[in-house]
Amino acid sequence: STVSQDELKKQVGYQAVDDYVKSGMVVGLGTGSTAYFAVERVGELLKSGELKDIVCIPTSVRTKEQAESLGIPLVTLDTHSKLDVAIDGADEVDPDLNLVKGGGGALLREKMVEVMADKFIVIVDESKLCDGLGPGFPVPVEITPFCHEHTMRQVASLPSCAGCKPVLRMGSSSNNQVDGDEIAVTDNGNYIVDLHFDEPIKDARKMAEDIKKVVGVVDHGLFCDMSTAVIIAGSEGVYKKEP
Ligand code: A5P
Repeated sequence: STVSQDELKKQVGYQAVDDYVKSGMVVGLGTGSTAYFAVERVGELLKSGELKDIVCIPTSVRTKEQAESLGIPLVTLDTHSKLDVAIDGADEVDPDLNLVKGGGGALLREKMVEVMADKFIVIVDESKLCDGLGPGFPVPVEITPFCHEHTMRQVASLPSCAGCKPVLRMGSSSNNQVDGDEIAVTDNGNYIVDLHFDEPIKDARKMAEDIKKVVGVVDHGLFCDMSTAVIIAGSEGVYKKEP
């Protein structure tokens, strides 16, 4: 029998929590349809009493609302800037375990939280694995609304972004969906430009540095050298990769 993609997401979400979250920890909660299951599992283990005294930091308004509905105690980076572990999904994972994230628009809060975690555990189904970042999923860049067309041009004209097609993300402001007539607005009140590539990105680290230097860019969805481990669910079962 074939296992549904949702079932794979649930397997990795639950396993990440079971393997890495212990009582007393400060835990970062990711965003998206895979991280959803990790949040669900944290709620379940708190309720059953298997986990005690943990506090969590959500990476989006959506995740905050899910965690609140499960009674998970929440804090912020303002009071807790050292996390034991953060768990999140990804849109693409390359062989060095560099990531593209931000398909759900939460990349800034995700990166702010996940860089502060001792361990950053990435959870994906096999479909997210790629040989090179880029062609399989556009690279999201969060930019300020002020003169966003100018900032888009500045990003697209970087030599390390050569060949990219920049597309301003559209959608409804409230849920940040990709379809819609209005410009999508992030939880932070910013816009997102998705950089589409036909060819694999040769040097993701260099591109990450270059994009970050453009004034008007807030941050981007390239997460390089951050993953402690990637837990992968595929047709053959669940396995783990470390850098
Ligand atoms: C949210 O902004 C993203 O970074 C998500 O973590 C990423 O898109 C993975 O989402 P799914 O698990 O829904 O594919």
